[in-house]
Amino acid sequence: MTPALDVSAYSSKLHFYLNGTEIILTNPDPDTTLLQYVRSIGLTGSKLGCAEGGCGACTVMVSNYDKATQHIRHLNVNACLTPLCSVDGKHVITIEGLGDHKNPHPVQERIALCYGSQCGFCTPGIAMSLYALLRNNSTPSEHEVEESFDGNLCRCTGYRPILDAAKSFAAPAAGAKKAGGCCGGAGANGGCCKDEKPEFASTVPQESSVRFPSVLFKAYDPTQELIFPPRLMKKTAEPLHFQGRKAQWFRPTTLAQVLQIKAAYPQAKFIGGNTEVGVETKFKYMEYSPFVYLHDVAELQGISITPEGITIGANVTVANFQKALKQAIETVSEEQAHVLRAFLANIKYFAGNQIRNAASVAGNIATASPISDLNPVFVASNSTFSILSSEQSVDSTARVVPATEFFVGYRKTALNPATDILTEIHIPLTRPGEYIRSFKQAKRKDDDIAIVTAAIRVKLASDNTIVETGFGYGGMSAFTCQAKKTSAFLQGKTWGDNDVLQGALEALDQDLPMESFFVRFWWDVIEQQKLQVEHEHGDISLMTQEIHRDLSFGAQSDKGTVQFSETKIVSQSVAHVAAMKQVTGEAIYTDDMPKLHNELYGAMVLSTRAHAKIVSIDTSAALAHPGVKAYYDHKDVPGNNVWGAAMFDDEEIFASEEVHCVGQIIGVIVADTQVIAQEAARKVKIEYIDLPHVVTIDEAIAADSYIPLTKSIVKGDVDAAFATCAKVFEGQTRLGGQEQFYLETQVVLVNNKGEGEFEIYASTQNANETQAVVASVLGISAHKVACKVKRLGGGFGGKESRTIPLACIMSIASHHTKRPVRCMLDRNEDMAISGQRNPFMGKWKVGLDENNKLVALDTELYLNAGWSSDLSVAVMERALGHIDNVYYIPNVRAVGRCCRTNIHSNTAFRGFGGPQANVIAETYMTEIAERIGMTQEAFRELNFYKEGQLTHFNQELKDWHLPKGYFQLKEKANFDARRAAVDEFNKKSKWRKRGLAFIPTKYGISFTALHLNQAGAMIHIYHDGSVLLSHGGVEMGQGLHTKMIQVCSEGLDIPMEMIHIVETSTDKVANASPTAASASSDLNGMAVKNACDQINERLEPYRAKGLSWKEIVHHAYFDRVNLSANGFYKVPDLGYKWGENKGQLFFYFTMGAAISEVEVDLLTGAHTVIRSDVNMDLGRSINPSIDIGQIEGAFIQGMGWSTTEESLYFPNGRLFTQGPGNYKIPGFQCIPQEFNVSFFEDVTHDSVNTVYKSKGVGEPPLFLGSSVYFAIRNALCSKLEAKAGERPWVLSVF
Ligand SMILES: Cc1cc2nc3c(=O)[nH]c(=O)nc-3n(C[C@H](O)[C@H](O)[C@H](O)COP(=O)(O)OP(=O)(O)OC[C@H]3O[C@@H](n4cnc5c(N)ncnc54)[C@H](O)[C@@H]3O)c2cc1C
Ligand code: FES
Ligand code: FES
Repeated sequence: MTPALDVSAYSSKLHFYLNGTEIILTNPDPDTTLLQYVRSIGLTGSKLGCAEGGCGACTVMVSNYDKATQHIRHLNVNACLTPLCSVDGKHVITIEGLGDHKNPHPVQERIALCYGSQCGFCTPGIAMSLYALLRNNSTPSEHEVEESFDGNLCRCTGYRPILDAAKSFAAPAAGAKKAGGCCGGAGANGGCCKDEKPEFASTVPQESSVRFPSVLFKAYDPTQELIFPPRLMKKTAEPLHFQGRKAQWFRPTTLAQVLQIKAAYPQAKFIGGNTEVGVETKFKYMEYSPFVYLHDVAELQGISITPEGITIGANVTVANFQKALKQAIETVSEEQAHVLRAFLANIKYFAGNQIRNAASVAGNIATASPISDLNPVFVASNSTFSILSSEQSVDSTARVVPATEFFVGYRKTALNPATDILTEIHIPLTRPGEYIRSFKQAKRKDDDIAIVTAAIRVKLASDNTIVETGFGYGGMSAFTCQAKKTSAFLQGKTWGDNDVLQGALEALDQDLPMESFFVRFWWDVIEQQKLQVEHEHGDISLMTQEIHRDLSFGAQSDKGTVQFSETKIVSQSVAHVAAMKQVTGEAIYTDDMPKLHNELYGAMVLSTRAHAKIVSIDTSAALAHPGVKAYYDHKDVPGNNVWGAAMFDDEEIFASEEVHCVGQIIGVIVADTQVIAQEAARKVKIEYIDLPHVVTIDEAIAADSYIPLTKSIVKGDVDAAFATCAKVFEGQTRLGGQEQFYLETQVVLVNNKGEGEFEIYASTQNANETQAVVASVLGISAHKVACKVKRLGGGFGGKESRTIPLACIMSIASHHTKRPVRCMLDRNEDMAISGQRNPFMGKWKVGLDENNKLVALDTELYLNAGWSSDLSVAVMERALGHIDNVYYIPNVRAVGRCCRTNIHSNTAFRGFGGPQANVIAETYMTEIAERIGMTQEAFRELNFYKEGQLTHFNQELKDWHLPKGYFQLKEKANFDARRAAVDEFNKKSKWRKRGLAFIPTKYGISFTALHLNQAGAMIHIYHDGSVLLSHGGVEMGQGLHTKMIQVCSEGLDIPMEMIHIVETSTDKVANASPTAASASSDLNGMAVKNACDQINERLEPYRAKGLSWKEIVHHAYFDRVNLSANGFYKVPDLGYKWGENKGQLFFYFTMGAAISEVEVDLLTGAHTVIRSDVNMDLGRSINPSIDIGQIEGAFIQGMGWSTTEESLYFPNGRLFTQGPGNYKIPGFQCIPQEFNVSFFEDVTHDSVNTVYKSKGVGEPPLFLGSSVYFAIRNALCSKLEAKAGERPWVLSVF
C-alpha cells in the first residue's frame, strides 16, 4: 500500500521577481511554461520560435542566490522549456527588463546600431544571452563572447554584425587576427590601411565605417544593472505543492521529502531542468503527474573532489558540472585531469548555454538516450551511480551501480521507475599511464545532438602493455554500448604496435563499425606517451587533433557603392528603422498583438497519411473536450474550397475526399485556448484507405506523376551542334530541399468585424493574394477583406503563398463563430505543412569545341513540387533561365518538369530555382574541368559571357561586369597564392585536406510572371508636416521599409524622422505584388518616388518661396492642395514569350562571385570554413550596410543549404526533420572564420533604370554560399587525386 502524503506542510504560493517586481501566484498550472506566462501578461519581447530549446528566441535570464556560497548566478535559459512553477525564489529578467527604445541597455543599443537585427525575431533572445554573459563577467574575452551564443539561432543576419556588436564589450584576444579592413588588406602586413588608428574601445567606436556607425555607444556600467531582490536573498526555500488543470507539482527541498513523495506517488515524474521532459510533453504528448522538481534539493546539488575522484550530486546542472570540472583541474595532477578534460571536451559541445544552465546530469543519465553525450564518458571512465529507493530511508546506504552495467536497453536503465532516484555520481580520476578521450560527431558542431559519440580509455603499464581499456559509444546501437571484443583483444597487447592497431580495428568492426575515433585515440596516446612509431601520416597532430576554429573576423567594404554620392539620404548606411524596437522587444509581430475580446484559437487536424481516401471523421471526443467550441472542415466553407497560388487551382483548403500528403489540413478545431484546441485536435479520429504514394523525384518519374505543364527554352540547333563538338560530357546532379526556417512560424489572426467585413493580420509576404483568396473562400468581395502585415519574423519565400491556407481557415472559423480566431503554427506543424525549397535533379549533356569552349547544353530539369503546384512552375521557369549561370553557350535545350509527389507542397525559397540551376551549372563546369584536365578557374574564365552577348533566352547582356568583378576578387582574395598554399598543405597532410572554390553568379531580377512587375505606394502628408508612407511591400527583415523611407526622404527632401510606415495593408495599397523576387525595392521604390514626384509638383510654388517643410505643408493645406498621392510603377520593356524564346525575361542582372576555403577532417567528415570572400555588383546601393547584411545572411543560408541542412523523410512520406533538433541551420560558430564582403569597383550602370540605379540583392548572393560546398568537394578530390589514372571523382549529390 502506498503511504498517503500530507501536503499541508507544502505551500501553494509561487514567489518570485520579474524585472524587479515581486510576483506571488497561487496554484500556478504545472503545465504552463515561463514563456507562456510572460507572454500572457504582455511581455511579448520573448519569442516562441520552436518550443524545444533549439533556437534561443525565448531566452530570458534567471538569477538565483546561493546562500551557501553567498553568490548570485545569472543564467540565460530557454523560457519555452522552463516550467513557470520552477522559478520560486528566483529573479526572472526578460528583454523588457533591460531598456526600451528611448533608453536602451548598451547591449540592445550596440546590436541595433551595428545592424545586428534584420527581422528582429531572434534579437531579444540574442540580447539576453549577451546580457547574461555580461552580468556574470563584465569584461569577457572575445572567445567567451563567441561561445556565449551557442544556444541562439538567427536566420537573417549571418551573425557577423551581432558578433561585432558583442565583441565591442570584450577585451580583444591576444594575437587576434584583424580584418583585411576596408581596403581588403592593403595596409601594413596585410592589415587594414586604417590600422594606425586607435583600436576600438568599448565605449568609443572607430571612425565611421560600415562595421561601426559613426555615433558614440553608451558606456557599459555593470553597477547600474537591476539588483537581485534583497527579499529573495533572505527567503528560505519551502516545499511547494500546486494543483493544476491536469497535473500536480511538488517542489521538495530535502531528499527525505523526495522519497516520501515517490513512495506516495510511484508514477511521479522527477524533473531536473525539464529539457527532456518538456520536449516529451510538448511534442510526444506524454502526460505526467505529479511532477517532482529536484533542482532545489540540496542533497542532490553537492560537489566534492577527493584524491580518488570527483563526486557530484545527481541533479547538478551540466553548466555547474562543467564549472566544477574546470575547478578540479586546478587542484589535481595533469595525469589525474585526463578524465576531467575528457568530460569537458564533451560538454563544450553539449547543447547550448541555455540548455546546459538548466539540464541536470541525472536527467541525461536517466533519459538514457542512445546519443547522449555524457553517458559514453561515464561508461568509459568506469564511473558509478548511487541510487536510493523510495522504500529506503534517506540515511540508508545507496545502491551503487557501475555505469558499465547501468544502460540495459533503449531508454532502459537499472533504475526502477516506480521507486528509484539517482542521488550521486562518482567519477574516478585517471591514474598514471591512463588516458581517456571523448569524441562527438554531429552535423553542426554547436548545439547539436550527436550522430555518433564515443569515449575511449586505456591504462598502460610502464612497458606500454595494455592493462585495462574502457569504451563507451553512442549512436551505434539502441543504448550506450561498449566494444567488448575490442577490449578483450587489446588486453595484454602493446600500444603502438601496428599489428595491434590492425587487430583492434578488425575487432572493432565486429563490435561496431566505427573506426575513426579509435584511430585518432591510438595515435594521440602514441604522441602523449612519446612512442617512436613509424608512419606515413605526415604531421600526426593533424590526425589526432580536431579541426581548430579561430575567432571570426572580416571586413566589409562599401567602396564600390559610395563612389556614387549625388544623393543625400539614399546611399547612406542608415540602421534599420525598427532596430531599436526589435532589440528591446517592443516590435510587435502578429502573435504579439494583444488578445482581442472573445478571441478563440484554431488548431489544425492534419492528415497522417501520404495518400489516402478519407473514410470517416469522428469528432465526438474532440467536441466533448471542455473548452472546445467547434470543428470545421470542407463542408463548412461558405465559398470556394479550391485555390491555387499561381497557374493551377489544384489545392483544397480542407481536404474533402482524399489526402495527398502527411500534414494536409483536413479540419480545424476552435477552442478557448491553444492548449485546449491542440489537445482536442488530437482527439479527432479519422479512418483512411491508403492509396499508392510517391515521395521522391525518381518515384514520380517512374510513376509518370507530373504537374501538366512542361516548360522549355531552346536556342540554336542543339542536335546539330553536338555533332560538331570535339568533346561531349554527360552527368546528373541532385539537390535536396531546404526549410525556410524563418524564426517566426506562420501566424494569422482574423477579426470578424461584423457586417460581413474581415480584418486579417497575417505573417504573409503576399497581403494581396491573401485578401483575394480569403474573399473567394468566404464567398464575399475582396473589398470586404483587409489584410494587414506589420512585420514578419523572416519569410524567405516561405510566406509568399503558404500563409494563405491558414488565413482562409481562420477566416472560415471566424465567419462561423463570429469571433476573432488566431493560430500560430507550432514549429513541427509549420515544417510539416508549409513546404520548402524544391529539391531538384538535373540531367545534363554538354559539348565543347577543340578549344574547350562551350558549344551546346542539353538539359532536363526535374523538381519535386509536392502535392500541389503552388509556385513550382514559376520556380522551374527561373531555373531554366539560370541554367547557364555566367557562361556563353550558343546552343541550349533546357526542359523542365515539375514532379507531383505526396509530400508537403514545396514553394518559394530565396532564389526560387535560380540557385538550384546555378548549382547544376557549376557542377557540370567543375566536373568537365576535372575531366579535361584544366583548372576550374581557367575553364570558367574561358567561357564567361562577354558584354553584348545574348543569353540562351535571347537577352542581351548590358553593363556586364561579372568578369571585372571576378578578377577584382581574385586579386583581393589573393587567390593564386592561396591555391598554391592549399596544394602545398594537401601534399603534406594525409588526413586533413583543404579545398578552395571560386564561384561566380548572375541573377535575373524581375518576376517571370509579367503582371507582377508593378507596384503602388501612397503618401499622406498631415498638417503638422509628418508623412505617412504606405507601399505594397512587406517588411520581413530585409530593410525594405528603411530603404523606402530613405527614398521618400530623398524624394521629398525632408528628414527620415518625419516619415513613418505603419504597416502593409490592402486597404492602403491595392493589388500589390508579393514581396519577393528581390524586386521589392525596385518596384515599390519607383512607386514611392512617383508619389513624391506628384507631391513635389504640387508643392513646387511653395518650395520656390524658400519656406521650411512645415510652412510649405501649412500653406498648401490652407490653399486646399491635395497632400496625398498615389504612386504607381510598372517595369518597362519586359515581356518574354515562353516557347517562342523572344522578349525580355529580366529587367537586369545582379552579379557577383565568391571564394571559399575550407579544411576537412577526413577521419570524421568535420569541416571548418577558413575564409570566404564575396564581391558583388549591387549598382548604387540605397543603403550599403543593409545590403551587406543581405549578402552575409544570404551567403550563410546558401552555405547551410549546401552543408548542414538536410530534409529527411520516412518512406511513408512523413517529414522526419521537423524542428531545430534535427534540422540544422548554421549557428554562430559555423560562419567563415574570415568573412569579407565588398562591391565591384569602377563599374557603370548606364542600362540600369531602377530607383537611384540600385539593384536587387535579397536572393542573388544565396547561391554564392555554395562555394563552401564546392570547396569541400575540392578538398575531398585532392585526397582522391592520389589515385592516378582514374576518372576524376564526381560528387553529384548536393
Ligand atoms: C535543445 C536541446 C539540446 C540538447 N542537446 C543535447 C546534447 O548535445 N547532448 C546530450 O546528451 N543531450 C542533449 N539534450 C538532451 C537533454 O538536455 C539532456 O538529456 C539533459 O541532461 C536532461 O536533463 P534535465 O535535467 O533537463 O532532464 P529532465 O527533462 O528534467 O528529466 C529527464 C529524465 O530524467 C529523469 N530524472 C531527472 N533527475 C533524476 C534523478 N535524480 N533520478 C532519476 N531520474 C531522474 C526524469 O524523470 C526524466 O525522465 C538536449 C536537449 C535539448 C532540448
Ligand atoms: S522557442 Fe525556446 S528555444 Fe526556441
Ligand atoms: S534577425 Fe535573426 S532571425 Fe531574423
